[in-house]
Amino acid sequence: ENLKRYIELIPKAELHVHIEGTFEPELIFEIAQRNNVPLKYNSVEELRKAYNFNNLQDFLDIYYGAASVLLYEQDFYDLTASYLRKAHADNVVHTEIFFDPQTHTTRGVSFATVINGITRAMGDAKTEWGISTKLIMCFLRHLSEKSAEETLESALLHKEKIIAVGLDSSENGHPPGKFFHVFNRVREEGFFVVAHAGEEGPAEYVWEAIDLLEAERIDHGVSSVDDPDLMEELREREIPLTVCPLSNLKLRVVEDLKNVPVRSFLEKGILVTLNSDDPSYFGGYINDNYLQTAEALQLSRNDIYTLAKNSFLASFITEKERNFFL
Ligand code: HPA
Ligand code: ZN
Repeated sequence: ENLKRYIELIPKAELHVHIEGTFEPELIFEIAQRNNVPLKYNSVEELRKAYNFNNLQDFLDIYYGAASVLLYEQDFYDLTASYLRKAHADNVVHTEIFFDPQTHTTRGVSFATVINGITRAMGDAKTEWGISTKLIMCFLRHLSEKSAEETLESALLHKEKIIAVGLDSSENGHPPGKFFHVFNRVREEGFFVVAHAGEEGPAEYVWEAIDLLEAERIDHGVSSVDDPDLMEELREREIPLTVCPLSNLKLRVVEDLKNVPVRSFLEKGILVTLNSDDPSYFGGYINDNYLQTAEALQLSRNDIYTLAKNSFLASFITEKERNFFL
């Protein structure tokens, strides 16, 4: 109970949250209705019942389905505003939000519609609550490198709104090396690089992400624990991991929260952080991730402090912003 208060009150940065994964069933229905888009489900309850996943792909199918009701700039604004309100309530003072432009542009929604809605909500949240935000664009790895290149081209018109570029969606069969050329361009354009790797995929994919894409932060990365040389490399190069415990549990990456290797990463001296990934689908926002992980792994206050501090150290805030937060 005491630890719960501590978790709630400590300022945190969130570094791994997909805006499309914060889409709550109530808002899905509201927006579907006002846009006249039919849904496969008849009620919020029926939709929630479908949130029973055996693996990453099961989840992605439902996640992309729900995202298809988003059509107008106001929809992206409402989605983002709703997440930021919850993040603020959890005492998240800085958040680096992923968005998947291809999920929308492949349906005929323009890149500008998506990014302008998201960034307008980010601006309003800053004004209203002082919450600091950055935006990370992700390429869908199940699509081609050419599609990623076209997406990068669209992003260049909005360069100042995007801090970093990442890689998400179906991992197995789509190793980071598939996107070698486009990430060379991403780095030339001055974006930071992150990549989902080692979620369902092997430690080898984490090696590819850091060596071929030169990712400066790894999303998930839990399979790194299988490779002692990789663990040493992550520590030595100070490459952070954005671990998402409830996500790993719900997608059956682990069978119990006890098996999320947060302790191994902490003990090794790796910059590990806790995050919510797709909180609307995985049963909890960031404080739920901290609390349930703390309980399962019997983390101390000191461990919680380290995880929260790591979240700022691992973020893309500038030196000046860092002095403000720490
Ligand atoms: N993994 C890969 N792609 C995703 C995820 C994830 O956890 N969430 C949203 N897109
Ligand atoms: Zn993710």
